[in-house]
Amino acid sequence: MAKIATLTVDGKNFELPLVQGAEGEQAIDISQLRSRTGLITLDPGFANTGSCESGITYMDGEKGILRYRGIPVEQLAGKSTFVETSYLLINGELPTREELTRFSIMLNDHSLVHEDMRTFFEYFPRGAHPMGILSSMVNALRAFYPEIPERGEDEETNMMFTRLLSKVRTMAAMSYKISRGHKVVYPRHDLTYCANFLNMMFDSPVRPYIIDNDLVKALEVFWILHADHEQNCSTAAVRLVGSARVNLYAAIAAGISALWGPLHGGANQAVVEMLQQIHDSGGDPAPFLARARDREDPFRLMGFGHRVYKTYDPRVKIMKKVCGKVLKKMKRHDPLMDVAMRLEEAAVKDPYFKDHNLYPNVDFYSGILLRAIGIPVNMFTVMFAIGRLPGWISQWKEAMDDPHWKLHRPRQVYIGSKVRDYVPMEKRKRPKN
Ligand code: SDX
Repeated sequence: MAKIATLTVDGKNFELPLVQGAEGEQAIDISQLRSRTGLITLDPGFANTGSCESGITYMDGEKGILRYRGIPVEQLAGKSTFVETSYLLINGELPTREELTRFSIMLNDHSLVHEDMRTFFEYFPRGAHPMGILSSMVNALRAFYPEIPERGEDEETNMMFTRLLSKVRTMAAMSYKISRGHKVVYPRHDLTYCANFLNMMFDSPVRPYIIDNDLVKALEVFWILHADHEQNCSTAAVRLVGSARVNLYAAIAAGISALWGPLHGGANQAVVEMLQQIHDSGGDPAPFLARARDREDPFRLMGFGHRVYKTYDPRVKIMKKVCGKVLKKMKRHDPLMDVAMRLEEAAVKDPYFKDHNLYPNVDFYSGILLRAIGIPVNMFTVMFAIGRLPGWISQWKEAMDDPHWKLHRPRQVYIGSKVRDYVPMEKRKRPKN
């Protein structure tokens, strides 16, 4: 017996079907609401609104649960690689050995960037933000690889996904080298996905980069932890832009642009800048906590709070552990790690943060790990984007494969002027304030 919700408006009852998810969560299906009642719903920020049914990632914000295709992120971070996790997200199952080998060969074969694309990079102003460059260059891939497979052309589609997954890493490293006026380092066939990225970033003719497997493992975990997160802002952007049936590259470029924001993926850069400010002001987090509590002050504690998690983000504990391992391995002491741990300890005890369910999120420690690996601060969100790419691709694919998928076109509640006539120029005047 289908479960229903009853809506009563002006004494009239309307029955709306309830939809139940795989983990028992329920939703009111309002897809017929306006046609049956003349009403729409209003939900700024969509905090209470589901945009789709998805089988990719499951999150429980109250319990701090995150699973990709049913597998807990903790297990993937401990046992998988970023390439294997990318395959899992996009195809729905962990790959067999043969499938993984084929996927890895395709990633290698597509790792080069068209030589004409280098000119694009060279003409960006040196100070251009790497996220703006990445969004532009991913969009530009459509010009260099115009063949867009029809729906159902699986081999072709998989090649498009693999090409993007592989080239995004090469483009990010190329952009970094060119921005510093350094020689571009090409991908190597004998290195894994993550090792290749580090080598393309840090190898140089005068100082060959020594691959450190602990750093490679740390980067694997970093990207696994970022790989997907259900309908977050940037994934919602990818689905919304993709709903117009635009090509994958344009939809992903929209996701990169949304991720750039400091309330979303740009927070990892903002966290390190905030920690540096605390450190430079003597290391006491109290004044910053006071500002975060002050409703008159727009300051927010970056790396804290989450739309879904009302407890610890399950990615934080793993990220913090990897941070400590890498700093220890590199025999580095990062004062910002001390500041971060002091700030976390103070904030989680603070009544304001407890009352608002504000806990550290994935961005709180991620920047410290990236600093330890040697990634420049202005590339932190690019690192988030590379990690999130398999998630965006899997979400775009799921939407495109959905026969019931519709153009995203929200409604509104109009609160503007009532109807009025055009006023000739000579009769227009502004009230004196
Ligand atoms: C990511 O969605 C995802 O899944 C995102 C992500 C992913 O993997 O894709 O997890 C990655 O984007 C993580 C979030 C990174 N952003 C930051 O760290 C920026 C700082 N955090 C906040 O701006 C905020 O917590 C958000 C934007 C993340 C979530 O905010 P919401 O859900 O929109 O909640 P809100 O802004 O309405 O805040 C509710 C209350 C407000 O106080 P009141 O007016 O009700 O008294 O909590 C307060 C806010 O002022 N609040 C904070 C705060 N976050 C919320 N106060 C101080 N510092 C903060 N960080």
